[in-house]
Amino acid sequence: MDPSHAGHTAATSTAQYDALFGLYFLIGAVVGVLVLSWLAVSLVRHRARAGDGDDLPGEDEDSRGRGLHVWIMVFGISGILFALAFGTLGTLHELEAVPADAHGVVVTGFQFGWIFDYDQGFRTFNELRVPVGEPVRIEVTSMDVFHNFAVPDYRIRIDAIPEKMNTLWFNATEPGAARVMCVELCGVAHAYMKATLVAVPVAEYDAWVLEQTGPSRGVSTAKGDPR
Ligand code: CUA
Repeated sequence: MDPSHAGHTAATSTAQYDALFGLYFLIGAVVGVLVLSWLAVSLVRHRARAGDGDDLPGEDEDSRGRGLHVWIMVFGISGILFALAFGTLGTLHELEAVPADAHGVVVTGFQFGWIFDYDQGFRTFNELRVPVGEPVRIEVTSMDVFHNFAVPDYRIRIDAIPEKMNTLWFNATEPGAARVMCVELCGVAHAYMKATLVAVPVAEYDAWVLEQTGPSRGVSTAKGDPR
């Protein structure tokens, strides 16, 4: 499948990251509205009027209500930090808890492309095929320099480092093709280091796996239309 037409699929990780982004956005929006409102009110209430002298506010006026402001700031900022910390750690925990029954694929980056080695004992180049509705564990590494395996539709981004395995899992929630790209500057053809992730129904996936492991067992380049 042509990667330029890819980009209309989703996974459990999409929902998890979007929820976390929503939390950050909501808190940021609330703080932004509060700060700008306070600025607007202050501009109107404390503007210089005709007949005002140019002396600064007196000590009494300046310190009025300061104690309350401090407590609001302490609790407000603590609340925000705790919400963001627990939200982030919770999402990370979910993303790192790989289900025991997950399909396994070792992803190896190289200059310039991606190799996918499936648990069932076969390999594809620049196309990762996964079943819809079943968990998939990817273990990402590199055979030369640092790369980064990214699937924007799945909100996935994981370093591909030589002699190191970085693990992540996802569960495709709808069939379709997703763009895979390298997002670590890795050499002259970095921008062309693309692949396609194709999520297909389980029956179709199983038939494809049989095809790959059948009598004519060999290396599939998995090019062209996935059907
Ligand atoms: Cu590999 Cu950029």
